[in-house]
Amino acid sequence: MSPFDTVLVVDFGAQYSQLIARRVREVQVYSEIVPWSITAEELRERNPVGIILSGGPASVYAEVAPRIDPAIYELGVPILGICYGAQLLCLQLGGEVARTGSGEYGRTAISVGAPSGLLVGGDGPLDVWMSHADSMVRPPEGFSVTASSLEVDVVALESPERRIYGVQFHPEVVHTTGGQELIERFCLGVCGAKQSWTRSSVIELATEVIREQVGDRRVLCALSGGVDSSVTAALVHRAIGDQLTCVFVDTGLMRAGEAEQVEATFREQFEVDLVHVKAGDRFFAALAGVTEPEAKRKIIGELFIRLFEEVSSDLADIAFLAQGTLYPDIVESGSGDAATIKSHHNVGGLPDDMEFELVEPLRQLFKDEVRAIGEELGLPPEMVWRQPFPGPGLGVRIIGEVTKDRADTLREADSIVLDEIQKAGLDRAIWQYFAVLPTIRSVGVMGDERTYGYPIIIRAVTSEDAMTADWARLPYELLERLSSRIINEVKGINRVAYDITSKPPGTIEWE
Ligand code: XMP
Repeated sequence: MSPFDTVLVVDFGAQYSQLIARRVREVQVYSEIVPWSITAEELRERNPVGIILSGGPASVYAEVAPRIDPAIYELGVPILGICYGAQLLCLQLGGEVARTGSGEYGRTAISVGAPSGLLVGGDGPLDVWMSHADSMVRPPEGFSVTASSLEVDVVALESPERRIYGVQFHPEVVHTTGGQELIERFCLGVCGAKQSWTRSSVIELATEVIREQVGDRRVLCALSGGVDSSVTAALVHRAIGDQLTCVFVDTGLMRAGEAEQVEATFREQFEVDLVHVKAGDRFFAALAGVTEPEAKRKIIGELFIRLFEEVSSDLADIAFLAQGTLYPDIVESGSGDAATIKSHHNVGGLPDDMEFELVEPLRQLFKDEVRAIGEELGLPPEMVWRQPFPGPGLGVRIIGEVTKDRADTLREADSIVLDEIQKAGLDRAIWQYFAVLPTIRSVGVMGDERTYGYPIIIRAVTSEDAMTADWARLPYELLERLSSRIINEVKGINRVAYDITSKPPGTIEWE
């Protein structure tokens, strides 16, 4: 059971369940997602202060429509149904839901009646976000209707005595005016939740849990320089100090300044026991003459594992491996509850004869919470806000053969892209931005000299999750500055191109 006042989100397969949990946590109230098949008894054991029934893709009338254990309505715990969740509680408590043919999708204006515990009427209609085909047409006995739209009479209903509420719209999406306030009123006003889910309390609890799990044994953490592994290492170090050893494998394919920053942060600032494997030469030797993208990836991946094996076999008394697994990974893999997973062979590419237990201090956290905690722990902002970077590093951005010279050229151009985009204040609005070095050459003229050099391709994309992406509409002045700086400052480059391909049909990386 969580030591925090908890609002549980019952998931009916909604694309928005995780978003609901995040919104609740933004109120500083802890929230977790549970499957709809949970029983009233199991819920009671979790002792939540409130329950939110999520939306979902099914119609309440579908043959396989998920229903919750009706005893849940009798637990005396406040309930808020959203969209499908509202229709379900309406139906299960004796009201009526119908396929009226008047579904609503997208922005919709609603009018709120008398102010209620949940909805505060304004002077005019409220804009909310809807997505439903069925509609509630009659509330259960004892419930009043608190909002309606032009198409639908029952948009919100409630029984303040039973502390059960339902809204047809989605308060969790940003397009709903006052949506976050509604969630806040439910959590604080209706449920009376304490706002205990704060950065410092999360860090305190994680520290305690790590100490309890690890005791006086030792932990290994592979640092990549990325956000998740950095925050994991910082948290574990806070908990157990020098029982932690970090390994950072420098493949020679990192971005400019990355290895130095890992050193400065972990060895100097946190005084972590850090093994820095400088393996650039071995990677370039292994990649010599290789041009096929998948072959390059495979070589980089395998060599990485081999180096990690070499280091970890020297550290015989390590009992745990720390990993930056996040809450969405847990929810999406369906493993739900935070049961301790005994790691099997080869986690993180470790030798077969080593058995580790996993330490996963971020497994209850969303990415934005990981960043907040990273800041709180004193990690530098460049590390906390770092854009995603592929495991094979610059290796998938150097088309053709990967050599040290070509990696140096790309790194230099890439650092100009990073610098200018950051200076333009666009680094948090753009998902990824980087340089690519192709194998073609073109003719140019610099001074009075003919040049025959390589181009740099700039790639900058906006995205929510890397599954789809659009090319960023960078201002012309910024593109102009990038072009002129790269050509003037990076030897051998005489042309700059901007990639205007979305994903699909392109991918974010070039290889
Ligand atoms: P693509 O190129 O497939 O990339 O559109 C989607 C996202 O994944 C990142 N990426 C990787 N990340 N190891 C990683 O950890 C990899 O091998 C890898 N390849 C691509 C890419 O940077 C983008 O964010």
